[in-house]
Amino acid sequence: MDLILYLFMTMILKLAYAIQARSDREQQVSGAVALTRSDSANNYRIWGPKVLCSMLPEDFLECNKPIDHKDNKTAKEEKGYGCLKFGGLNYEDVEHTKVLCTVFSDIDCHGPRTFMRDGVPCIRYSEHYFLTTLLYSLLLGFLGMDRFCLGQTGTAVGKLLTLGGIGVWWVVDIILLLTNRLTPEDGSNWNPYV
Ligand SMILES: *[C@@H]1O[C@H](CO)[C@@H](O)[C@H](O)[C@H]1NC(C)=O
Repeated sequence: MDLILYLFMTMILKLAYAIQARSDREQQVSGAVALTRSDSANNYRIWGPKVLCSMLPEDFLECNKPIDHKDNKTAKEEKGYGCLKFGGLNYEDVEHTKVLCTVFSDIDCHGPRTFMRDGVPCIRYSEHYFLTTLLYSLLLGFLGMDRFCLGQTGTAVGKLLTLGGIGVWWVVDIILLLTNRLTPEDGSNWNPYV
């Protein structure tokens, strides 16, 4: 009985050893392949501990704000990236662009530490909150307070002088706000509440 158990155990151990040896060999082979493949890419070892700088998440990077070309197509083509327009509520409406990012100096990574990152939305925020503006529009719309707050001073004065277009403009602006056709003058998006 002991003999059978002994044979059985040695068999298991040998098998485990064989499997281990095989996977070691495989790893060496694929490591070598990786090395030769990446020799051209500045000796980057995909099994090594370092991450490519360009693969780091946003938290490790200092990125520029997207460049505003203010609808100047030639300027955008010259630069190769940047935004023609800012804002938009739906994903399809929002322009995306590349920005220049630099890795924080304390972070260790492989490859160039400054690079272009793609897919950054052309969106900015200033001090405009949707709910606050809506309240202004509901309560003080006849004085044009909503438009004053959005920075649309010209129409705001008109609204004030006509006392909200004798009530009609007051209501129209509330509808415009709710349907997102009345937005901040500076092209910024509504600030999210955090
Ligand atoms: C657009 O940008 C180009 C290059 O920066 C500049 O020469 C041109 O004057 C700009 N056009 C307008 C209309 O601002």
